[in-house]
Amino acid sequence: MSFLNKIDSIKTEADKDILNTNSVLQLEEFRIKYLSRNGILNQLFEEFKKVDKEKRGEIGKQLNELKVHIQKIYDLASTTSPRTTIKPDITDYTLPGRTFNKGTKHLINQAIDDITSIFEKIGFEIYEGPEIEDEYHNFDALNTPDYHPSRDMQDTFYVDSKDKDKQYLLRTHTSPGQVRIMENTKPPIRVVVPGKCYRNEAVSARSLAMFHQVEGLYVDKKVTFKELKGTLNYFAREFFGENLKTRLRPSYFPFTEPSAEMDVECYLCEGKGCRICKHTGWLEIMGCGMVDPKVFEIAGYDPEVYSGFAFGMGIERTLLVKYGIPDIRMFLENDLRFLKQF
Ligand code: PHE
Repeated sequence: MSFLNKIDSIKTEADKDILNTNSVLQLEEFRIKYLSRNGILNQLFEEFKKVDKEKRGEIGKQLNELKVHIQKIYDLASTTSPRTTIKPDITDYTLPGRTFNKGTKHLINQAIDDITSIFEKIGFEIYEGPEIEDEYHNFDALNTPDYHPSRDMQDTFYVDSKDKDKQYLLRTHTSPGQVRIMENTKPPIRVVVPGKCYRNEAVSARSLAMFHQVEGLYVDKKVTFKELKGTLNYFAREFFGENLKTRLRPSYFPFTEPSAEMDVECYLCEGKGCRICKHTGWLEIMGCGMVDPKVFEIAGYDPEVYSGFAFGMGIERTLLVKYGIPDIRMFLENDLRFLKQF
């Protein structure tokens, strides 16, 4: 067969082949047969190199036309819709169906649910206060006077407003929730207040400018420190498991007296002392104490009749301890590889 005849018959064959491509797979077979590196077209161009000089003009022209033609019918077939979908010859009904990724609650929200339900089991109710607070609820009513360092611009985000009588701010803790509850209810009170808090801090592996707390408040007649300790130990056992040791360490808060901080054994060194726990063997997870009589007075409760305890825990901190998470910023990165582990 002469070269020109060959070109002709390949064109006929390609025209027939392209009409038989009904799926992406068949289209790919067509491309491999004609257009790939070892395909028919390239083979023809190889053979063309051996063609005598005088015949080259005509054959070369035909060969180029064939190439353009095949590319054109291939492109056309790829963009026509019926061919772009895969039509399997058989349907395998035994194949498992496609699953959908449903998504889950963020680790922080899961922890808020876990923590609040631990307290709900022993009779606490849930209350959520506003994130934009005023100075009265965030500081004054919590016996935190004007000169207290936490009121400094460096610690607190103040919010501009048209209201001249009130200074607004982003709450620095969930404790204003205590004040709001006492304003509206009579004892006995058992309540937990979860939510976001804000402090003007440099973001680092250990602190964020926005974080979460859960506040607790218990007010009744004759509430004692022993009950505070019992309640927090119950919480720690439920949340961290039976084996984690806890301790209360004396501390100071303007709104509790006496005040304490609760530490749990360091997850990394199990109490032996390491970099994470600054060689103390313990990690702080919350502040607590007996409600200061001043706070009761401001709320209009008689401190001679009522007593109570309060606590406030950092959610991120409790999670760092529970799961050994090395950097607090991981909570905000939304890296699925991290989030999917919980
Ligand atoms: N509000 C305190 C803090 O943010 C924690 C706390 C709450 C302490 C209740 C005592 C009682 O650090």
